[in-house]
Amino acid sequence: MAFGSIRKRCGLTPDNVLMCHIKTRFALMLTMTLALSTIAYVYFSLKPVMHHHTKFNVVNHTQSYTEGLSDKNFVWKIMQTPRALKKLTASISTKPISVLQYVAHPSNYHFIMDEPDKCKQSPFLVLMVPVAPNEVAARNAIRSTWGNESTVQGKAVITLFLVGLTGGSDSEKAQQQLEEESRQHRDLLQSNFVDSYFNLTIKTMVIMDWLATRCPQATFSMKVDSDMFLNLENLMTLLLAPNTPRQNYITGFLMWDRPVNRNKKSKYYVSEELYPEPKYPTYVMGIGYVFSNDLPKKIVEASKDLKPFNMEDAFVGVCLKRLGIKPSRAPDPSQFRTFMKDSKSHDLSKVITTIARSPKQIIEFWQNVTKISP
Ligand SMILES: *[C@@H]1O[C@H](CO)[C@@H](O)[C@H](O)[C@H]1NC(C)=O
Ligand SMILES: *[C@@H]1O[C@H](CO)[C@@H](O)[C@H](O)[C@H]1NC(C)=O
Ligand SMILES: *[C@@H]1O[C@H](CO)[C@@H](O)[C@H](O)[C@H]1NC(C)=O
Ligand SMILES: *[C@@H]1O[C@H](CO)[C@@H](O)[C@H](O)[C@H]1NC(C)=O
Repeated sequence: MAFGSIRKRCGLTPDNVLMCHIKTRFALMLTMTLALSTIAYVYFSLKPVMHHHTKFNVVNHTQSYTEGLSDKNFVWKIMQTPRALKKLTASISTKPISVLQYVAHPSNYHFIMDEPDKCKQSPFLVLMVPVAPNEVAARNAIRSTWGNESTVQGKAVITLFLVGLTGGSDSEKAQQQLEEESRQHRDLLQSNFVDSYFNLTIKTMVIMDWLATRCPQATFSMKVDSDMFLNLENLMTLLLAPNTPRQNYITGFLMWDRPVNRNKKSKYYVSEELYPEPKYPTYVMGIGYVFSNDLPKKIVEASKDLKPFNMEDAFVGVCLKRLGIKPSRAPDPSQFRTFMKDSKSHDLSKVITTIARSPKQIIEFWQNVTKISP
């Protein structure tokens, strides 16, 4: 409120102006007090959410375990039922930030198994493999092939597996086996979300969180599925090429102009409530995407303001769009394969990724490329 306008309203006699000034000041003070208390109210009603965020870095395992599980369980259930979702959104619409938006945010979860020192030697490339807790065969196949490489073209590479909670009736026994496996290989990370196909977005965001908090010094990272064959030599050649950017860079098998699946029976179904647009922004297919390691932190940040949905790769695409970052076309896009029609060793020596049909096939592909006779 400018004082010129006060004069206009108050008239021109000095007495009038003085009285009116006092009145106006009083009104101003009142308005400011009101505004301040509104800000304080908003701040304190948000505080629980903020509190979660601070836990992000300072994890107190004993304390946050049950807490994290119980309330996220509730939120996630609600997310899955559109009607309940609408109801909840309506009931909390007075609050500026919907609690729903935090469900996939990694600050909601914490690591039960961690390898915080893995990055001490500043690896050039970190391979992060989301995998189900019971998929030991896949992990072992990777450990004996591309996951066993510690240097490629003179650059340090590390491979880590990320699992969620073991489920089912044998969950305790499965957990013990995992811990044994972890002691043996020191390459397992476990977070406290329920491991399921529907929760892959959480898994990816937890991977991003680990990279951002435990390994910011790496140059590149890759999220690569456990059924993938990876030709590390070719990947390294791409990453070391002088025109491969080391910031805001992500590449792989690009998905352009993909319509959102609205068929409720499909496992790729995403409701309009969670993602209203008819098409996804350009994203990189989840089987294997490689990115400059500045991105994990940025993606985690961007995800805070977005409604998560179950297509992890498309969700990363939505985060990237929010950041104004476009996935890059690989210099030779045919190197990022899904399936290979004709898996001759000749082709395998040129690809970067291709899907293997079994852990055994990962080993076969590796042997063909490294020319080791089986
Ligand atoms: C973690 O939380 C537990 C239980 O609240 C508490 O006893 C312990 O002192 C905390 N540890 C740290 C490092 O804050
Ligand atoms: C990894 O490679 C080393 C030699 O470089 C070998 O001794 C070891 O057995 C390999 N690990 C696995 C799990 O195959
Ligand atoms: C996803 O993870 C959350 C948190 O652990 C859990 O409550 C929920 O049941 C999981 N959803 C599915 C479909 O497994
Ligand atoms: C690997 O090489 C062997 C012999 O060179 C060949 O018989 C086999 O078909 C190859 N397998 C794949 C999956 O390329």
